[in-house]
Amino acid sequence: FTRDDLAGLQVLITAGGTREPLDPVRYLSNRSSGKMGYALARAAVQRGARVTLVSAPTSLLPPAGVELVSVETAREMYRAVMERFAEQDVVVKAAAVADYRPVVCAEQKIKKGTDSLILELVRNPDILSELGLRKAPRQILVGFAAETEDLEANALQKVEKKNLDLLVANDVTQPGAGFGSDTNIVKMVYPGGHIQPLPLMDKLSLAHRIWDAVVELRSGKSPA
Ligand code: PMT
Repeated sequence: FTRDDLAGLQVLITAGGTREPLDPVRYLSNRSSGKMGYALARAAVQRGARVTLVSAPTSLLPPAGVELVSVETAREMYRAVMERFAEQDVVVKAAAVADYRPVVCAEQKIKKGTDSLILELVRNPDILSELGLRKAPRQILVGFAAETEDLEANALQKVEKKNLDLLVANDVTQPGAGFGSDTNIVKMVYPGGHIQPLPLMDKLSLAHRIWDAVVELRSGKSPA
């Protein structure tokens, strides 16, 4: 890959599924492998950007040339992203962040006893919404949405509500899309309602399509 169209830009990408501890040996999480976020980091390095990758635990090796910031919980990811947001030109949020965490993390391993166990959960901060509020005009903010129903309606609502420049929406019920796979099928959703559906493609090719869109947004052109 020879393009250098992200040279001089500082970008931050989040990846993976956060883990919310229940006790010293257990956690609540999701099926994110980190592949989408790591592909975005690899593609950005290939195109000349300085890349910070804020990653929840994955089994992947970070691409050469990225600054890796390892986090575990949604609240750790929130702090890591907020501390670095001011110096970013572009932020892409491919991580699957837990919306809720257990109210308490037990100090000792929870013992089995009763037939049923009720867990009380509390809301985590919404990192993407907070970035949307803090965003400076020069900054580009790209979110992801993993939906299992009403993809377009939900995506259009999210792109406006969270003040995003682009939302990459995956219908995670389709084979070859979303969590864990090496491929994805998405719709690129822009504020104002323009929607561009993309065919099935590997996550590195999709990553490059997303950076193409970012380059176009930065040049002030309307989406193709
Ligand atoms: O990691 P892979 O296995 O490659 O899978 C890729 C993926 C399916 C995880 C990725 O393509 C994807 O869709 N990531 C977002 C998944 C998700 O959590 O979607 P959501 O609709 O719940 O969240 C919407 C957006 O808000 C996301 O950008 C998310 O990072 C962000 N968010 C959500 C909750 C929260 N508390 N803070 C956030 O910033």
